[in-house]
Amino acid sequence: MAFQNHELMESDNRPIGVFDSGIGGITVLREVLRKFPNENFIYLGDTARLPYGSKSAATVRNYSVQNMKYLVSQDVKAIIVACNTASTQIIETEFENRPVYNVIDPGSFLASQKTENNKVAVLATRATIKAGSYTNKIKSFKPEIEVFSQACPLFVPLAEEGWTDDPITNLVAFRYLQNLKTLGVDTVVLGCTHYPLLKNSIEKVFGLYVEMVDSGEAVALQVEDDFNSAKLHRHQFANEKPKITIALTDQSEHFEALSSELLRPVSNAEIHFETVSVI
Ligand code: DGL
Repeated sequence: MAFQNHELMESDNRPIGVFDSGIGGITVLREVLRKFPNENFIYLGDTARLPYGSKSAATVRNYSVQNMKYLVSQDVKAIIVACNTASTQIIETEFENRPVYNVIDPGSFLASQKTENNKVAVLATRATIKAGSYTNKIKSFKPEIEVFSQACPLFVPLAEEGWTDDPITNLVAFRYLQNLKTLGVDTVVLGCTHYPLLKNSIEKVFGLYVEMVDSGEAVALQVEDDFNSAKLHRHQFANEKPKITIALTDQSEHFEALSSELLRPVSNAEIHFETVSVI
């Protein structure tokens, strides 16, 4: 019989590690936090080396492994690769005995479930599109799906700037996406974790009748499965105020303000900022 009594289950108060090049992974952290408000988190933003999306596969892999080593040094119990570009280069499902969650697998699965006309658009960085990971993964779930990919490199600096609903962003979105709209896709994968911040502008191009896939939610479901199967243990003691540490490789007051603004509506945890080196 499955062991259901949470009071008696093992507790693990080690933080969950999450990393991205910058602010984008905060959209993933936000979804995971919404589901698991008692957990402690350490978020690593590699702001000194952002963006990843214009870098080579070898460099992205090297940075990502350094980030994971840093998170392990902070004694995390699991690692969420909250960056699609990094997810194309991290095929491991475990790193130094910790489970690793990437954002491409769950996002692809969700897209394959949501599409009704089998036409899916993937919006991502140049590096992610070049790796072809979304096309391969989506087709592995449902080979008849046609996948149309579009790199949107200017979206990352717009999201970092916090121009989440701005006429300039609307214009850039229109320029990148108008051709895709004419192809009649019914599902749009936000294949870069920065892009959910620009959802309003993206929706203005596609209209309300397309399904948007945001992998933050999909990853949270995977983590939930692993909590339920006891592959991972929850932090059980709700009376201990949870902590969120945001570690940046380059200090940025702008990042601190923007990330606090994004996380405050979903969590009352204390947020602590620090500057770290991962090399
Ligand atoms: N947020 C990242 C992604 O999901 C990368 C953005 C960048 O650094 O180019 O791909």
